[in-house]
Amino acid sequence: MNAKAHTNLQLDAASFRAIADLAYRESGLTLVEEKATMIQSRLRQRLRALGLSNFQDYCTLIGSDDGHTERRHLISALTTNVSHFFRESHHFETLATVLENRLPHLRAGGTMRIWSAGCSNGQEAVSALITLLEHAPEVANLDLRILGTDIDPKVVAFARAGVYPDRLMGGVSDALRAKYFTNANTADGEAEYATNEMIRRMIRFNELNLLGQWPMARPFDLILCRNVVIYFDAQTQAALWPRFRKVLKSDGLLFLGHSERISDPARFGFDCTGPTTYAPLA
Ligand SMILES: C[S@@+](CC[C@H](N)C(=O)[O-])C[C@H]1O[C@@H](n2cnc3c(N)ncnc32)[C@H](O)[C@@H]1O
Repeated sequence: MNAKAHTNLQLDAASFRAIADLAYRESGLTLVEEKATMIQSRLRQRLRALGLSNFQDYCTLIGSDDGHTERRHLISALTTNVSHFFRESHHFETLATVLENRLPHLRAGGTMRIWSAGCSNGQEAVSALITLLEHAPEVANLDLRILGTDIDPKVVAFARAGVYPDRLMGGVSDALRAKYFTNANTADGEAEYATNEMIRRMIRFNELNLLGQWPMARPFDLILCRNVVIYFDAQTQAALWPRFRKVLKSDGLLFLGHSERISDPARFGFDCTGPTTYAPLA
């Protein structure tokens, strides 16, 4: 099939429904019909890669036992991965206060654990760590670690590589860039910056579906789950809040994105302590 024929591929209503149902079941993503054109254009690339000539065949593949790999590609194609460094900066100011309270514990050999849940390409986790290092450089030698997780294997691989093209470096001042990044390469005329060894040592990135099992053994001091649940319906969100509550320390905090809320937080064991900031109720 030639390229023109591929651009003519139409996502019919039944295929849209099958894809939307699967995305919801597998990842919690709620696909609305208004987004069908965007979804069609993203998935045409998958059909092209597979040499398929219609969406019905694509649905047969993703619905089959052999469709596991393609289901991962599908979720990856459907996720929205936009992020940037120091996004919603008020949370990073709060983070510096959290660290201030935790420093005596850390200095006494204690731990501090942070989870960037739905971390996309890692900018959120890196921003959190830079904030902490700027506030107290000694944390580089204390037991502080950040975990970044995402359902999309592509962004997890990107975050692990830690190499950011110039266009993704917005929000990072020249001084911070010089301190925490090294000049990697120039790709297609654009400079690239790699996170330095210290950043890589203190952050781990893993694939994790928020709807699946969470293998983490120890509770977190802070969870950032920002601009993720906006793609979930109320039922999926409501199922997540108690799970976050369970893996947060009793004096921990949960940060959500600017347009996300826990409605009736007390019902889920949370108190809203600041803008999109939640603390477990005693
Ligand atoms: C818009 S990005 C937000 C990135 C970052 N937290 C921020 O605020 O800049 C949303 C991320 O959530 C991830 N995501 C969506 N559904 C998920 C799920 N069920 N489990 C884990 N991550 C998910 C997407 O892959 C995407 O990278």
